[in-house]
Amino acid sequence: MKILAIETSCDETAAAVVSDGTKILSSVIASSTDMHKKWGGIVPEVAAREQLKCILPVIEEALNIYSSSPSERLGVNSSREVNLESSRLAGARSNNIKDIVENSIDAIAVTVGPGLIGSLLVGVETAKSLAFVTGKPVIPVNHVLAHMYANFLGSDDNYSSRESRRFVGTNREVSDSSRLGLPREFSPGGSNNINFPAISLVVSGGHTELYLLKSVKDVEWLGGTLDDAAGEAFDKTARLLGFGSRGGPAIQEAAQKFQISNIKSQIKLPRPLLDGSLNFSFSGLKTAVLREVNHLMETQLLNSSLVQQLSFEVQEAVTDVLVKKTLLAVEKYEAKSILISGGVAANLRLREKFNLSIVAFHLSPVNFYAPPPLLCTDNAGYIGAFAFFRGQAADWHTLEAIPDLSVEVIT
Ligand code: KG4
Ligand code: ZN
Repeated sequence: MKILAIETSCDETAAAVVSDGTKILSSVIASSTDMHKKWGGIVPEVAAREQLKCILPVIEEALNIYSSSPSERLGVNSSREVNLESSRLAGARSNNIKDIVENSIDAIAVTVGPGLIGSLLVGVETAKSLAFVTGKPVIPVNHVLAHMYANFLGSDDNYSSRESRRFVGTNREVSDSSRLGLPREFSPGGSNNINFPAISLVVSGGHTELYLLKSVKDVEWLGGTLDDAAGEAFDKTARLLGFGSRGGPAIQEAAQKFQISNIKSQIKLPRPLLDGSLNFSFSGLKTAVLREVNHLMETQLLNSSLVQQLSFEVQEAVTDVLVKKTLLAVEKYEAKSILISGGVAANLRLREKFNLSIVAFHLSPVNFYAPPPLLCTDNAGYIGAFAFFRGQAADWHTLEAIPDLSVEVIT
């Protein structure tokens, strides 16, 4: 089954064609992140305007890659610069999109929430129009639940869990090469390899949620953040440290520099564990970093080595809590697999800690899965995967953008 998936919940505009929920045949992402740098964060109206401009070129590019020769289809394009020049050819474009969807796509999947209303509307209304003109079924998708299905993308043949670990570690080259790789290398998971029950941690800019997966379809929400999400903690502390917007990767880079310097960190930040609950709280971290920054600035200059040390501590604090809570859930539900997803799952230290703790706690029958970094951050691949495994087609008339769509599901 070939699904055209559309994702516009935040500032990315993404489209992908996904086969049987496991193979990405084409994937295109356009982001307005650079435009938001100016304001130090995402400006919803700017995001929606940009998305309106590029939604059709992005969908068309994804469909063109998919419908081109089979060898090209194996490649995955992450195009941050979609050519908008040709938008003058809008008439030809809509015919092209309509033809390909009519002739070689089985269903259209679209994120309906949670997310920014203006952004969601761009994707939802486009999907509705496409469903109307082509007569294809349309499948509404919950963005946060969909994140975890990035673990089911990729080859679903011949991957033993041992092999899968090769794609999970902290090796930069492996992560980087997976950005360019063929679908084979896309994900360690694949629907046939993941043993259930599994504990799934979704960690993104807006969410930190733990789920129990009894099967690929059967999902139970276990807990989530009471205040800031893990990604938000990275982003807010990054801003305090002078890194601007989208701070997770910046914190990771600075933390790595501190780590290789082999100096012992003198700074200690809180790790709120909230007793035995499976909820999280990260807002105290931002306050603690602010206090440290103010204190340091009173006594000395906040030089780059102190910023690196603070970044290291932020990363250690966030990842410690994420790993501990996830392992608590693994123990409680006797899980056989751990799946992580969402933008923060791209963090190399987090991936390393999961691998190390599975060995340290003798959790060897537990396999750890993490999608390659490109599939952790927002894209339409996992929207198509979710739609295949759990989606239910809806009448296009009834489809709505739901900014506060609940993620606390039990199915
Ligand atoms: O899933 P995502 O792309 O968008 C949302 O659905 O929110 O996640 C974005 C978040 C941002 O907070 C970003 O700082 C964080 O993921 N992030 C990272 C890394 N890469 C992205 N956080 C820590 N380390 C990273 N390498
Ligand atoms: Zn996301």
